[in-house]
Amino acid sequence: MSRLISRGALIVFEGCDRSGKSTQCKKLVEALNNDGIKAKLWRFPDRDTAIGVMISRYLEQKCELEDHAIHLLFTANRWEAVPRMMELLSSGTTLVVDRYAYSGVAFSSAKQGLDMSWCKQPEVGLPKPDAVLFLQLTPEAASERADYGKERYEQPEFQDRVADNYKLMTDDTWKMIDASQTIDELHTVVRAVALEVIEKAKGQDIGQLWT
Ligand code: TYD
Ligand code: MG
Repeated sequence: MSRLISRGALIVFEGCDRSGKSTQCKKLVEALNNDGIKAKLWRFPDRDTAIGVMISRYLEQKCELEDHAIHLLFTANRWEAVPRMMELLSSGTTLVVDRYAYSGVAFSSAKQGLDMSWCKQPEVGLPKPDAVLFLQLTPEAASERADYGKERYEQPEFQDRVADNYKLMTDDTWKMIDASQTIDELHTVVRAVALEVIEKAKGQDIGQLWT
């Protein structure tokens, strides 16, 4: 059955800190909009919801939360966005998402006592990305870009474990992209990949993550 409106694509950016995710997400949305393609920037955590406010306080180290509990809050922060995301996708808007369930699993399971399969469970069934653009940068190159800030998790040893965890989640939706290029070179690559993904997504239903 043909659709009246072809759906938008769900394009997720992941990668270590300072890999350029936020810059590339923003540039991609601008470029797509300039080309007349409906696209919207999205990011997780969404710090503007009630759950997001709790997450933000935790990241700013203003409060402590048990590791499983904060993991579930990050996940809940995605689930609460799902109705709106699905509405936008089905009305033809491509969503360009800065971090998603992979960040959730990679960061939480970098902690002692939380294993990856436990961390994945509450994320099962979220809208499945049509593509995950993974911006690859060596820890050395990342550390030359800027100092880590004061937020929780912004320490080299923790980030190394996060990077290892990401590797364990790669599948055929992942596109590994060299993030050591200049902003504009990287954007050119990202844009080309995104256009392909958007075209391909039109003919497919949105899947469910990790089912
Ligand atoms: P944010 O400021 O959004 O990202 P960035 O560091 O790229 O500016 O910070 C979000 C932090 O939360 C980051 O350290 C990754 C972490 N995180 C999780 O632990 N779980 C999650 O589900 C998500 C989306 C992020
Ligand atoms: Mg940050």
